[in-house]
Amino acid sequence: MPEELSILFDFPDEQPAAHDAAQPARDLPVVPLINTVLFPHMLAPLFVSDARAVAAVEIATAQDRLVVAVAQRDPEVSEPSFADLYSVGVEATVQRALKMPDGTTSIVVQGRRRVRLLNTAQEAPCLRVSAEPIYVEEERTLAVEAMMRAVLSLFEKVVRLSRTMPDDSYIMAMNIDDPGWLADMIASTLPLDVVHRQEILETLDPEERLRRLSILLSKELDVLELESRIHTQVQKEVDRSQREFFLREQMKVIQRELGQLDPAQRELFELRERVAASNMADVARARANDELERLEVIPAAAPEYSVVRTYLDWLLTLPWTEQTEDNHNLRLAATALDDNHYGLPKVKERILEFMAVRQLAGPKQKAPILCFVGPPGVGKTSLGRSIAEALGRKFARLSLGGVHDEAEIRGHRRTYVGALPGRILQTMKDVKSINPVFMLDEVDKLGHDFRGDPAAALLEVLDPEQNNTFSDHYLDVPYDLSKVLFITTANILDTIPDALLDRMEVIELPGYTEEEKLRIAQRFLIPRQLDSHGLSVDTLHFSESALRQMIRIYTYEAGVRNLERELGTICRKTARRIAEARQHIRMIRPAQLQRFLGVPRYDYGRVEEADEIGLAVGMVWTSNGGDVMSIEVTLMEGKGTLTLTGQLGEIMQESAQAALSYARSNASIYEIDVKTFDKFDIHIHVPEGAVPKDGPSAGITLAIALISALTRRPVRRDVAMSGEITLRGRVLPVGGIKEKILGAHRAGIYTIILPQRNERDMEEVPAQIKRQMNFVYVQRMEQVLEMALLAPQPKKTNRTTKKQASKSPKNPPALPNNTPPDEAAAA
Ligand SMILES: Nc1ncnc2c1ncn2[C@@H]1O[C@H](COP(=O)(O)OP(=O)(O)O)[C@@H](O)[C@H]1O
Ligand SMILES: [Mg+2]
Repeated sequence: MPEELSILFDFPDEQPAAHDAAQPARDLPVVPLINTVLFPHMLAPLFVSDARAVAAVEIATAQDRLVVAVAQRDPEVSEPSFADLYSVGVEATVQRALKMPDGTTSIVVQGRRRVRLLNTAQEAPCLRVSAEPIYVEEERTLAVEAMMRAVLSLFEKVVRLSRTMPDDSYIMAMNIDDPGWLADMIASTLPLDVVHRQEILETLDPEERLRRLSILLSKELDVLELESRIHTQVQKEVDRSQREFFLREQMKVIQRELGQLDPAQRELFELRERVAASNMADVARARANDELERLEVIPAAAPEYSVVRTYLDWLLTLPWTEQTEDNHNLRLAATALDDNHYGLPKVKERILEFMAVRQLAGPKQKAPILCFVGPPGVGKTSLGRSIAEALGRKFARLSLGGVHDEAEIRGHRRTYVGALPGRILQTMKDVKSINPVFMLDEVDKLGHDFRGDPAAALLEVLDPEQNNTFSDHYLDVPYDLSKVLFITTANILDTIPDALLDRMEVIELPGYTEEEKLRIAQRFLIPRQLDSHGLSVDTLHFSESALRQMIRIYTYEAGVRNLERELGTICRKTARRIAEARQHIRMIRPAQLQRFLGVPRYDYGRVEEADEIGLAVGMVWTSNGGDVMSIEVTLMEGKGTLTLTGQLGEIMQESAQAALSYARSNASIYEIDVKTFDKFDIHIHVPEGAVPKDGPSAGITLAIALISALTRRPVRRDVAMSGEITLRGRVLPVGGIKEKILGAHRAGIYTIILPQRNERDMEEVPAQIKRQMNFVYVQRMEQVLEMALLAPQPKKTNRTTKKQASKSPKNPPALPNNTPPDEAAAA
């Protein structure tokens, strides 16, 4: 079957007699055309493989070489019959026929004139049809002339834009004078489909043919123009990046050859190389490249230059993928924890659990956010470091104490002069790893003011749903914090915003007992201090009794921070003596302490020297841990007003009112003369400096001091208490029991009165402490009174009682003057 290779055109020397007046129809063999249309005058090389077509070529070459070349309607049909062919084709001469080895025949045909196919003349061995030449009268009107010019000019543009049409096809068209032929020639050159070509072939009037062709040409031109626009754009892009690549390579070579660039260029060059080599996130890299482009046009002396430069440095120095391999060995981790900290079983267990879960569930497992709560010096901060060591991660610490400004967490926008990233990213930069243990120290000291709430920014940092795209105002591209293990610390939970507290798993670190402190000192603090002062274990020893003294009268704390400091002082002084080659003490005993540390700062066992009237000891819970606090009540002649002084919170004032009302309504039971309430002013004073966290827990202490003053019955000095009181005298439970008991123990008070419902909290108190102490659980105020108040002791001699005029509770003294004991104030 014939297939088009390409259409050639030529000025045939033998012009067919197209203009001859009507000629009779004659029978000719048919060469069907697939996907192409042959025009008069045109040469076309064809491949013929179809048997009937091959026969047609053979028959034609044996006779006058004439055939009818006509397009078939459906290119898929093989051996087409008359009906499968268009009814207009051309009479053509077979110029050349070559039999190919594969059985096909390659021919070149040239069109002569249009013919109309009338009917089938013969079916085999080839299809022959009766074909009648078509004769068209041609008139050269002005309109035809104009049409020819228009078509030519369109064709010129098409040829210029087209990348497939040879340029000389236009020259050729210019030289054609015949309108019909011009149309045929252009139609056969254009990349048209068969339907359109056939339409041109079948349009007999030359003017109409040119008109239709001009439409096809304009369409083609549109397509070509669009194509060319796209092409130029693509080309531009390709050129630009090729050019850049080329220049950059050139620059490298030049630099290498000369070994130098001017400093600004060199800097830019190096920055570019560093950005290309860095492993920052894609968004960040895109931003870095933008900034590099800006840098190219800013003069190096301009202030903006260094702003952009600094920004790029931040992008380059932040860790983006660097991370440490986690230690999965639980036993090793446990050892690392034990090596650094004594006790603290709860925390250590939690860390090992975390590691175990992580091993089983993989790193997808969201890390918990732990919050260590406890008084100062119990090892919260230092635990963070040893957790990092146990996990095999780097350690970063950020103290939030006094952070007021959101920008401190999240940075300033770059539009600010001197803007920097927030402290989170600063810390990440320093730690150089994306998965450190990150300690947010002292979250409870976080402030907030008009400059925005840092807690809100912190929420974003700690939210596992958002912190993989943490946004720092300065950096302005998302930064992934999701691999960080955050640990927070606090002295108290009260000041931590609820939303923040919700995110965290609270682990309490209560204060240490004396025994624990002793162990910590012996096993950890002393070796560490000796080491850091360059002393060997043989040069200096501490006797156990000396250590106990230090714990009792040189330090007074829940943790061991001051103890460590005092041990440091002794080490330092010893080191100096050794350096000066003077004699030094090798064994520190209690007697030597004063030489090193000066006069003791605290009294051990701050129990009052005597049982006092109007003075009761309560237990409080402060941010420094548990402690004891004396409450004094004095009666003065007056009109029954209540005065409160000292560290009294609003809630404590309410407790005082409640205690007074209770005393008043139960006056008869305690044998208090009701007139007393009108004749005397009552002054309540809380001399101690510490601000208790929970006001109401001083309720029963206030009531006892008050009733003691009113009844002139002394309060037992060796009893401490805590509990809220209602108007009807019920005693309600309070918080911080464990801390309070440790505080009382430290103060040397061993009998404790507690609300009945706090008995369940006793579980948390170390057994050793419980063994040494004596607990009384009460439900009602009467039980407290019974326990804590002594009988009136008229004969008792102490500083206060000797001035007392009357001892009988029934007859209150004209001027009760139970002076506040100075011991309490001195403590
Ligand atoms: N259980 C303990 N074992 C060993 N050393 C401890 C322990 N608790 C505290 N320390 C030491 O006490 C000092 C103060 O601890 P630190 O972590 O600063 O306490 P915090 O952050 O709770 O105020 C540190 O030198 C720490 O190593
Ligand atoms: Mg700390």
